[in-house]
Amino acid sequence: MKGLVYNGPRDVRVIEVPDPKIEKETDVLVRITATNICGSDLHMYEGRTSVETGKVLGHENLGQVIAVGKAVERVKTGDWVCLPFNIACGVCRNCERGMTHACLNANPGSAGAAYGYAEMGPYQGGQAELLRVPYADFNCLVLPPDAEEKQNDYVMLADIWPTGWHATELAGLQAGESVVIYGAGPVGLFAAYSARIKGASQIMVVDRHPDRLRLAEKIGAVPIDDRRDDPVEAVMKLTRGEGADKGCECVGWQCHDADGHEVPNETMNRLVRSVRPAGALGVVGVFVPQDPKAEDPLMKEGRIAFDFGLFFHKSLRLGSGQAPVKAYNRSLCRLIAAGRAQPSFLVSHELPLSQAPEAYGHFDARHDGWTKVVLKPAA
Ligand SMILES: NC(=O)c1ccc[n+]([C@@H]2O[C@H](COP(=O)([O-])OP(=O)(O)OC[C@H]3O[C@@H](n4cnc5c(N)ncnc54)[C@H](O)[C@@H]3O)[C@@H](O)[C@H]2O)c1
Ligand SMILES: [Zn+2]
Ligand SMILES: [Zn+2]
Repeated sequence: MKGLVYNGPRDVRVIEVPDPKIEKETDVLVRITATNICGSDLHMYEGRTSVETGKVLGHENLGQVIAVGKAVERVKTGDWVCLPFNIACGVCRNCERGMTHACLNANPGSAGAAYGYAEMGPYQGGQAELLRVPYADFNCLVLPPDAEEKQNDYVMLADIWPTGWHATELAGLQAGESVVIYGAGPVGLFAAYSARIKGASQIMVVDRHPDRLRLAEKIGAVPIDDRRDDPVEAVMKLTRGEGADKGCECVGWQCHDADGHEVPNETMNRLVRSVRPAGALGVVGVFVPQDPKAEDPLMKEGRIAFDFGLFFHKSLRLGSGQAPVKAYNRSLCRLIAAGRAQPSFLVSHELPLSQAPEAYGHFDARHDGWTKVVLKPAA
């Protein structure tokens, strides 16, 4: 089959790779019809992870089941399914408690597994024609009858919408509260979208790309361009000097100043200053235990200079980590099926797999208008 593989920094290629097979009786095989490029893929694309060359990338996957292992009972050939980016066993101590992002069995020696990702187990990704899905009865979200026509909506359930939702959950956002979100990439925009659905009274989104800020405004957020305004002052002004009730970090350790210079602690410390005392922060932007290629000497060892004194003084709380997609995907799916949510609003490009390398280049450069790419390997 054809698959998109990592071949080195800023070098991904679509090549012939071996077809995946049913390896365990609990697997299914899925013919991928929609698979997104994610901001998380860019950390690998830029050569900032340990991902090995030849790995098929892609963890935001949707398609139709074409073969099922002997032990699979619930999922049937022909089902349309969306796969959480987390691969989880369903029976370990963490999965039992719904913490599927920290499964102890799927990636032995570590907690948490994913398709096509550095350090997340031996699994190939879905930016390809076919995908092997382990522990299939547990991991497959079987989609409603309108799955095929609403693929661009349902594929957002694999990662990016549940992750945005998770940012607001970690922050404990309640109806009527205000929230500031750093980052207007897909994750930040979906945090804003989730905040609107949850009934936030005020949603503020900080970034510097006009196209992304326009989308934030379109879904009901106040855009804050940190090239023009100091974002902390802007939040204070918009909240009568109090600060936002809650805050979300949707950028990660590669956050940078407006000139593109990486400042790994910038968003975290701005959040501490933008959120009111006794508020809370949800951090879903990725931070890593080490990054030898970071310019910042602390970040090389996975550290940031965090304003913990002010954080403590303000009695703030903080939650972080990968999103447990399964905790949210079924209910968010029902919002789509009922016509009450249309997460495809974010899709800027639908492309065949063959054009994925160019798409990575545009998305990585955050070129104007490249907000979310959906690849269509079956097209
Ligand atoms: N926790 C999870 O489960 C999970 C899942 C998916 C993605 N992620 C992570 O979320 C982060 C965002 O993903 P994305 O797909 O939206 O990526 P993206 O790279 O498209 O978006 C990031 C946005 O942050 C903006 N930004 C950079 N520095 C900034 C700063 N100092 N202040 C404000 N904005 C700034 C950029 O301009 C960009 O628009 C990434 O780190 C990604 O790996 C985490
Ligand atoms: Zn993703
Ligand atoms: Zn598990």
